[in-house]
Amino acid sequence: MALWARLDDVCVRYGPKIVMQNLSLDIVEGAITCIIGLSGAGKSTILRLLNGLKKPDTGRVFVRGKDITEMRERDLIDLRRTIGFAFQFSALFDSLTIGENVALPLRENTKMHDGEIRKLVSETLDSVGLAHVEERSPSELSGGMVKRAGFARAVVSNPAAVLYDEPTTGLDPIITHVLTDLIVKLREKLNGTAVVVSHDLESIYIMADYIAMLFEGAIVAYGTVDEIRRSPNPIVQQFLQGSEVGPIPI
Ligand SMILES: Nc1ncnc2c1ncn2[C@@H]1O[C@H](COP(=O)(O)OP(=O)(O)OP(=O)(O)O)[C@@H](O)[C@H]1O
Ligand SMILES: [Mg+2]
Repeated sequence: MALWARLDDVCVRYGPKIVMQNLSLDIVEGAITCIIGLSGAGKSTILRLLNGLKKPDTGRVFVRGKDITEMRERDLIDLRRTIGFAFQFSALFDSLTIGENVALPLRENTKMHDGEIRKLVSETLDSVGLAHVEERSPSELSGGMVKRAGFARAVVSNPAAVLYDEPTTGLDPIITHVLTDLIVKLREKLNGTAVVVSHDLESIYIMADYIAMLFEGAIVAYGTVDEIRRSPNPIVQQFLQGSEVGPIPI
């Protein structure tokens, strides 16, 4: 199976706090990999390692076979152009319209003309179910709409991979379902790779090709939805069942 990326024996610490210890993880190309784990386990940090926003203290990060821990900043910028990022808190600029927000990656990274940009932004907004909101401000949209606009910005430049950080957290069950289906649809449309950090098990069971569970600095379980759900690992079972009883300290 071709890999889009690989974390190889990675250690990360923030000050004295060790967040990852000898962590290895393969991200299969053309698949949706979901990362689960407790709050503060280091899930967002995995996404930041994958696009070179964070360097590991030791270990290597490979994207499409290239070691990005050795890359110059200029090459990292090129790499990031091939990776869309849908942030945990959407991170749209309130001072810009929705259309301008979605256009940003195109303005920064391409030489497209205004007319082409406008057309692509409107098609992309359409593809996430947000037609005719280009002129609105992010503050005028609901939480679900803002998330979709964030997805549109993440995919507008046709990236090889899209990283989603908690795409459905805090949204109602219907919007959650819509966004989950949208992640699947966008992955198919881009014919690329997706990595999704989420706590939302129902969505994960729908969209994941692979699930990786992060616990105490390492990946303690990895497999398909069926494999993870049937995992004999008591840490996995406690997490999936949301039980207070088990090996996970609370
Ligand atoms: N820039 C930073 N400086 C210091 N500590 C940090 C920094 N970024 C993250 N951490 C710490 O590293 C740990 C992992 O953070 P991370 O955001 O990756 O976790 P997470 O699994 O995404 O958590 P959550 O579920 O709350 O989003 C946390 O304990 C966090 O407090
Ligand atoms: Mg996080």
